[in-house]
Amino acid sequence: MRTDAWFGRLANQAAAHYRICGRSTYHFARAKLQHDPVYRLILTEALIPGAARIVDLGCGQALLATWLAAAQECYHAGRWNSICPVPARIASYRGIDRNPAEIHRARQALGDAVELDVGDAGSALLHGATLVVLLDVLHYLDYEAQRQLLGAVHAALPANGLLLLRVGDHAGGLRARASAWVDRQVLRLRGYGNSRLHSRSLADWLQLLTEVGFTTREIARQQSLAYANCVLRASPRAH
Ligand SMILES: C[S@@+](CC[C@H](N)C(=O)[O-])C[C@H]1O[C@@H](n2cnc3c(N)ncnc32)[C@H](O)[C@@H]1O
Repeated sequence: MRTDAWFGRLANQAAAHYRICGRSTYHFARAKLQHDPVYRLILTEALIPGAARIVDLGCGQALLATWLAAAQECYHAGRWNSICPVPARIASYRGIDRNPAEIHRARQALGDAVELDVGDAGSALLHGATLVVLLDVLHYLDYEAQRQLLGAVHAALPANGLLLLRVGDHAGGLRARASAWVDRQVLRLRGYGNSRLHSRSLADWLQLLTEVGFTTREIARQQSLAYANCVLRASPRAH
């Protein structure tokens, strides 16, 4: 089977968990898992270490958890694609989001298989995490809260722990403005009115991570007409 078709099938399998939530949630999950390049990247680049204890801050409807579960199912059913390394078996997943509707959808889809809590990323308990995930979340926090959260993540992670994040690169230009516009529409649709977003250029994100105590590696830049993002993997320097 061609690689695109194989990933499409995996996305369908993961999205099927959301059928119980209704058509729009299901179709959103399916479209996101099929077209957002970060999900493929997570498997092709083995971005999730084995036995990870994951805390996914701003998890939304926990697409990451369903994606990883579908990968495990597919691997154990003998339908794996050799373009990807063997998928990591995680030890635990805890998703936290401030939006109760997202957590409700995630619970409907995933049941008791994972831990899901409504809460603010800034005050989340990170104890025990070996992998903290922040995918497209940090710009929702104000600048000081971003620094404090990254500091808390650094303090909580063990020496071999990891922070996996994706940030927008708002260095300017049409793409950055389009991306900010899309983000503002999503906020309005989710009932957050005209809340401000707190974007940075990629250079600023990298500087902030360094200041907080991380050594950061760029994994991939992802861009379309409407956005410019970067997936980063950050390891804590010695505490
Ligand atoms: C663009 S979505 C990304 C969702 C998910 N990380 C993903 O990649 O599918 C941003 C999410 O961050 C959540 N969020 C924003 N600020 C937050 C905060 N302070 N604490 C917890 N969740 C937050 C929003 O409710 C939303 O679900």
